[in-house]
Amino acid sequence: MLIAHLTDPHIGLDPGPLAGRLAPEASLRRALAHVRSLGTPPDVLLLSGDLTESGREADYGTLRAAFDEELPGHQQGLPRVLAVAGNHDLPDRARHWLGDWMPLPADAPAGVACVQAERGGVHFIGLDTVVPRQPHGELCAAQLDWLARTLRALAGQPVVLFLHHPPLTAGMAAMDECGLRTGRDALARLVAEHGGVLLIAGGHLHRPILGALGGAPVVVAPSTSHQLALDLRPGAPLALQLEPPMIGLYRWTPQDGLACHFSHVQPFDGPYPI
Ligand SMILES: [Fe+2]
Repeated sequence: MLIAHLTDPHIGLDPGPLAGRLAPEASLRRALAHVRSLGTPPDVLLLSGDLTESGREADYGTLRAAFDEELPGHQQGLPRVLAVAGNHDLPDRARHWLGDWMPLPADAPAGVACVQAERGGVHFIGLDTVVPRQPHGELCAAQLDWLARTLRALAGQPVVLFLHHPPLTAGMAAMDECGLRTGRDALARLVAEHGGVLLIAGGHLHRPILGALGGAPVVVAPSTSHQLALDLRPGAPLALQLEPPMIGLYRWTPQDGLACHFSHVQPFDGPYPI
């Protein structure tokens, strides 16, 4: 199982004074071309939210067009694209445009935009953390009850969880302020009880970050567009940093276990055999 993880493309972001240096659509297209160029095509491509900057209809169309043109195999499920919305999205509009990437389980709680799909014996569960018109995230009690039932039914089978607001404290003051405010402890208990969660993939933080929850790794991929400055001082303000975009590449087999790679999107010279 090879999983590509792209996040926070923020299609439609006005670069303002950074025009010419920050171009979300072009960056996403380069990331998709990078995925296409991999010698080993991924089975699944996860998108963990902030698909658009402000939820405009046209921006979801731009996102889908980028996939159709740069990674046409996705239309045949190669890779299978799965997505959740982020705090910058309008979840209903995202589902209208990208519904096939957001399969809603039949028993989803009312008003919860969770996602469930299976590929190659691995069960992918997308959790809805969006609080309307708020930057922070929450996991509501109804969704946690649904997740508890779902994980119980899967009885230890391999599971990948993905969500926009990752369940960790990064030490980046301004982002922790708008992080996952509720549901983290309950999620940790469910993950520990299930015992088969391979990883928990998130976005929102615009940096490559690793953590752990309930015995499972938490992996945050950088944005395909722009990163946030790494500043761990208490009270540090938010600042953009135009570090090279990266994608996450996560390889898992029952024999080998899990390895998480981050791969720079920009072309580099090489590789040269040594
Ligand atoms: Fe974002």
